[in-house]
Amino acid sequence: KLKKISIAIDGPAGAGKSSVAKLVANRLNYLYIDTGAMYRAFTWAVMHRNIDIADEKAVQALAETLEIRLEADVELCRVYVDGQEVTNDIRMPEVSAQVSSVAALAVVREKLVQLQKEMSMAGGVILDGRDIGTVVLPKADLKIFLTASADARAKRRWLELKNRGTVESLQQIADNIQARDKMDSHRAVSPLRQAEDAVLVDNSEISLQETAEMIVKMAEEKMR
Ligand code: CDP
Ligand code: CDP
Ligand code: CDP
Repeated sequence: KLKKISIAIDGPAGAGKSSVAKLVANRLNYLYIDTGAMYRAFTWAVMHRNIDIADEKAVQALAETLEIRLEADVELCRVYVDGQEVTNDIRMPEVSAQVSSVAALAVVREKLVQLQKEMSMAGGVILDGRDIGTVVLPKADLKIFLTASADARAKRRWLELKNRGTVESLQQIADNIQARDKMDSHRAVSPLRQAEDAVLVDNSEISLQETAEMIVKMAEEKMR
């Protein structure tokens, strides 16, 4: 019988983490947990309730009461905040512009990291984010640091948003990606970095399917 392992995928914005993780999860019949969606959902709630992120008490109170739920669906990870579906709203440029500031707050990270650990307890999971291999699952069986050139990442994200009907220029998207990567890698709490035992995969020149296939092969090795 194959062991149910846990897989961590970290890397910068637009590297292909969530698309690859979904493909791998489907192939292995694993649970995919989109941790970025959780930070986006928290940010959506902050904005929706007009909370000033400099107001530590208000942020703390929100972290204590907010219910963020992920629901796996075919091809998609549905996101709910206090029962309200926000799957599409959390991808809006307004949220993308704020999320890295919210994700830098220790109280927010404590709450979401704990939730992510609980969700991963049973194994048979694949998580993607920025601190999965370093903080959320330091003992994950397989750790991937997925990256691609800044140019490839911006173009891919632009195409994806264009196909969904969002009107953001390539330059606006490239700027947002660059700003988030900088904040995410330089923050004091759990900055984006490659875990020492993570495998570096650059998929600038590799398709989504090929990248997923590589990771499935590595995962199968670990399951034996
Ligand atoms: O847009 P993209 O899919 O690249 O980003 P995301 O995975 O949805 O994550 C949005 C933001 O959440 C990131 O830019 C980080 O600021 C934050 N994040 C984090 O701090 N830690 C995680 N484990 C996942 C996301
Ligand atoms: O989750 P993350 O921000 O790392 O990236 P993503 O949202 O999974 O991928 C961003 C876009 O790049 C998606 O539209 C993917 O289909 C595309 N992509 C690609 O075309 N080729 C790859 N090898 C990886 C991703
Ligand atoms: O001890 P065992 O791995 O059987 O179970 P567990 O401690 O409940 O962990 C469940 C899964 O989460 C395992 O596959 C671990 O790889 C992962 N985990 C981790 O990466 N880091 C931790 N600090 C705890 C668990």
